[in-house]
Amino acid sequence: MRLNNKVAIITGAANGIGYAAAERFIEEGAFVVIADFNEEAGVSAAQQLGDQALFVQVNVAEKESVKKLVSTVIEHAGRVDILVNNAGITRDAMLSKMTDEQFQQVLDVNLTGVFHCTQEVIPHMVAAGEGKIINTSSVSGVYGNVGQTNYAATKAAIVGMTKTWAKELGRKGINVNAVAPGFTETDMVKKMPENVLAQMRSIVPLQRLGTPRDIANAYLFLASDEASYVHGHTLHVDGAIMM
Ligand code: CAA
Ligand code: NAI
Repeated sequence: MRLNNKVAIITGAANGIGYAAAERFIEEGAFVVIADFNEEAGVSAAQQLGDQALFVQVNVAEKESVKKLVSTVIEHAGRVDILVNNAGITRDAMLSKMTDEQFQQVLDVNLTGVFHCTQEVIPHMVAAGEGKIINTSSVSGVYGNVGQTNYAATKAAIVGMTKTWAKELGRKGINVNAVAPGFTETDMVKKMPENVLAQMRSIVPLQRLGTPRDIANAYLFLASDEASYVHGHTLHVDGAIMM
C-alpha cells in the first residue's frame, strides 16, 4: 500500500485520466477527493469508488471555488498530502481562426487553475512539513501541436511552473513534479478528427494510444515515497511518440 492513509485531491477526477488515478490511489490506500466541475459525473464517480472517495464540485478557474474546495477537504479529512492538478480542457483551432474566448478559456482552466489549486494547498503542506504536487503537462506542450496554440502554451507553462515550484518548495519538504502524457484514450481525444488521431497513433513506436491507467501509474509513482528524490521533473508517458 504505497499511499496508506494519504489524503489526495485529484482535479478533473470525474472522468478519464483523473478517474483512473482516483481508482489507482484508492487501491494503494489513499482517501481521494474527486474535485471536478461536472457534478453528475463527479457524484457517479464517487459512488463507484466507494467510502474512500469524496466528490467536491469545483471550478479550478475560480479562486473562490478553489478556496471552498480546500477548506471542505480540511474540514472533512484534516489535511492534504497530495495534489494532482489534472483538470484540463481543449478548445482547438488553427491560429488564424482561434478566438480570444477559446484562447482565454484554456488559459483559465489549464494554467490559472493549476496556480489557484497549488497556492491554496501549499500552506497546509508547509505546516505539515511534507507534500506532493503533481502537475499535468502534455506531449503538445513539450513538442507543440497543430491546432493547439492555447493548449500547448499552457502545457509548456506547466513545465516552467513545476521547475519554479520545485525550487521554491523543496526546502519545505514538498516534492513537485509533472507528467506529460501522450495521446490517451479519453473523451478529450474523442473530439479529434479520426484521420488526425490515426496519424498520431501510427507514429507511436508502441503503435497504440495510452490508457488512462498508464498515466495514473505515473501519477502514483510521483505521489509515492519511491519518488522522494525525483523533483522538478516532467515524466513523459507517451509511448515515445516523439523523442
Ligand atoms: N499536421 C499538419 N497539418 C495539419 C494537421 C497536422 N496535424 N492538422 C491539420 N493540418 C492542416 C490541414 O491539412 C489543412 O491544410 P490545408 O489548408 O493545406 O488544406 C490545414 O491544416 C487546416 O486543417 P483543417 O481543414 O482540419 O482546419 P479546421 O479549421 O477545420 O480544423 C483543427 C483545425 C480544429 C485544428 C482540426 O484539424 C483538429 O481538431 N485537429 C486536431 C488537433 C489535435 O491534435 N488536438 C489534440 C486533442 S487531444 C489533446 O489535446 C490531449 C493532448 O494533450 C495531446
Ligand atoms: P477528460 O476530458 O476526460 O477529463 C477532464 C476532466 O476535467 C473532466 O471530468 C472535466 O469535467 C474536468 N474539468 C474541466 N474543466 C474543469 C474545471 N474548470 N474545474 C474542474 N474540473 C474541470 O480529460 P483527460 O483526457 O482525462 O485529461 C486529463 C488531463 O490530462 C488534462 O490536463 C489533459 O490536458 C491532460 N492530457 C490528456 C491527454 C489525452 O490524450 N487525453 C494527453 C496529454 C495530457
